[in-house]
Amino acid sequence: MRKKIIAGNWKMNKLAAEADQFVNDVTGNLPDDDHVEAIICAPFPFLPSLVEKSKGSKLKISAQTMHFEDSGAFTGEVSPSMLQDIGVTHVVIGHSERREQFGETDESVNKKVHAAFNHGLTPIVCVGETLDQREANDTMNHIETQVRKALEGLTEQQIAEVIIAYEPIWAIGTGKTASSEDANDVCMHIRHVVKDIAGKETANQLVIQYGGSVKPANVDELMAQSDIDGALVGGASLEADSFLKLVEAGT
Ligand code: G3P
Repeated sequence: MRKKIIAGNWKMNKLAAEADQFVNDVTGNLPDDDHVEAIICAPFPFLPSLVEKSKGSKLKISAQTMHFEDSGAFTGEVSPSMLQDIGVTHVVIGHSERREQFGETDESVNKKVHAAFNHGLTPIVCVGETLDQREANDTMNHIETQVRKALEGLTEQQIAEVIIAYEPIWAIGTGKTASSEDANDVCMHIRHVVKDIAGKETANQLVIQYGGSVKPANVDELMAQSDIDGALVGGASLEADSFLKLVEAGT
């Protein structure tokens, strides 16, 4: 049975004291269930403190992006080895906001996925279509291209360890959620693509999250779908109570 992984993506929100308070509120209250994992994807400045505060708890700490190079003249960037060095376990790669606003491409996503594995970080790879692509019936093709490019050159073992987050761009922060059936259809398609790349066993191990206006009110229905193994959540992950409810839905 695949685990459910609930990840809260705070994006560019909170100040240090609020971040610490959140982790204090959450760590002692996570469900004692090995089938559900809880991750917070926090802004860079909070990462060392959150890693420290979450030690001994089930909460894992993720970065929201990184560079693929290990060091060098890349002003403003953070390297995979820096994240590894401070004890971060996961990194979000290719979020649509990074693709749209910061020039992330399928090629850089693939380099970052390799860099993550080279530094013991688990990549959470985001894929998703725009409203135009959905209306033009191009969703499945577009997602397949993004998945194939992101996973290029990985071993089967690595592919089994990747987390893929399917986030339709039109559903992010808009209050519009894909229907659970539509979301599941795309997640199922992702699993078929991965089966074609790396075989059935690997595809069956792959964790696929849904993201886009997930909240306590709709999470149960989404989690009940055959191919949705968790959620990547923005707005509803900012309050500890709400985040805990989302994690509880994974049990
Ligand atoms: O990465 C999470 C995300 O983009 C969804 O955001 O606010 O719609 O849950 P939100």
